[in-house]
Amino acid sequence: MSATPEEAHGQVILVSAEERPDLIPAFDELGSAVWPKFIGGDAAVVKYWGSLFSEALRRHQFLALGVDSDGNEQVLATSNSIPFRWPNPDDDASLPDEGWDAVLADGVEASRSGQKPNALSALAIVVSPARRGSDLAERLIANMKTSARQNGLDALVAPVRPTKKPAYPLTSFADYMGWTTADGAPFDPWVRKHWQLGARIAKIAPRSMRVEAPLAQWTEWSGLRFPLSGPYHVEGGLAPLMADCESGLGLYEEPNIWMRHQLEDGGR
Ligand SMILES: CC(C)(COP(=O)(O)OP(=O)(O)OC[C@H]1O[C@@H](n2cnc3c(N)ncnc32)[C@H](O)[C@@H]1OP(=O)(O)O)[C@@H](O)C(=O)NCCC(=O)NCCS
Repeated sequence: MSATPEEAHGQVILVSAEERPDLIPAFDELGSAVWPKFIGGDAAVVKYWGSLFSEALRRHQFLALGVDSDGNEQVLATSNSIPFRWPNPDDDASLPDEGWDAVLADGVEASRSGQKPNALSALAIVVSPARRGSDLAERLIANMKTSARQNGLDALVAPVRPTKKPAYPLTSFADYMGWTTADGAPFDPWVRKHWQLGARIAKIAPRSMRVEAPLAQWTEWSGLRFPLSGPYHVEGGLAPLMADCESGLGLYEEPNIWMRHQLEDGGR
């Protein structure tokens, strides 16, 4: 998709990885600075993330590119999404409990086998720290809606990672998701952003990202030691890491919240 004059407003244009394959390394460069290290140990990330940049799927990966008057370019933000097969889009409850991992795996498998997806799932948006609080995240979400429509998909959903949850490790995910601001909006700022853009909460995806690894690896990722079996809070975690000293393994199952955007006319 080429940048429209509107997208070029303010010298920031949106381009896809299909249009600019030379910029594909920028996705991981921007992402590696913001994701907790343990996310890289998710089996679906290991197996499928690279396939997002295959010829079939790179048109769903976007970069916000700042261009100065001398023509110098800077990657300011990125977004990732993937078409997947949603057997029953009339029923939000049928969204997979394995959220993010499930849509990434299904979307890549569908693209390899030539099967037709019917829905688009957001996977990630990263805005470079210096550009947070601008309209970039909003533009990238709006662009996903446009992209879903242009690719003939019936729905846009997102297994949203609530950005403030790690600051409240003693609160259960379900309780945290029930918190609201005084005016009734979702408490979490990133969930609220989707909500302000017209998305509604569909359901919790209790096992959206699964990371199982030897405790020594968890020590490397988190700096923590695990003298006893049990739950531990790791920095950036949305749920506890469960350490099992007998098997020597640590299991982290991250809940996310499924949100559904409106694609119909009138959906913002
Ligand atoms: C989440 C992210 C894309 C939002 O970009 P942004 O430019 O800050 O977006 P907005 O300005 O539209 O902010 C949305 C809200 O989230 C808040 N927010 C953003 N990042 C946050 C963070 N890491 N922790 C807490 N709050 C955050 C903002 O303060 C804002 O809340 P407000 O409207 O009440 O002020 C950006 O912070 C980011 O790249 N974070 C790291 C990657 C990530 O967590 N991505 C989301 C999961 S895919």
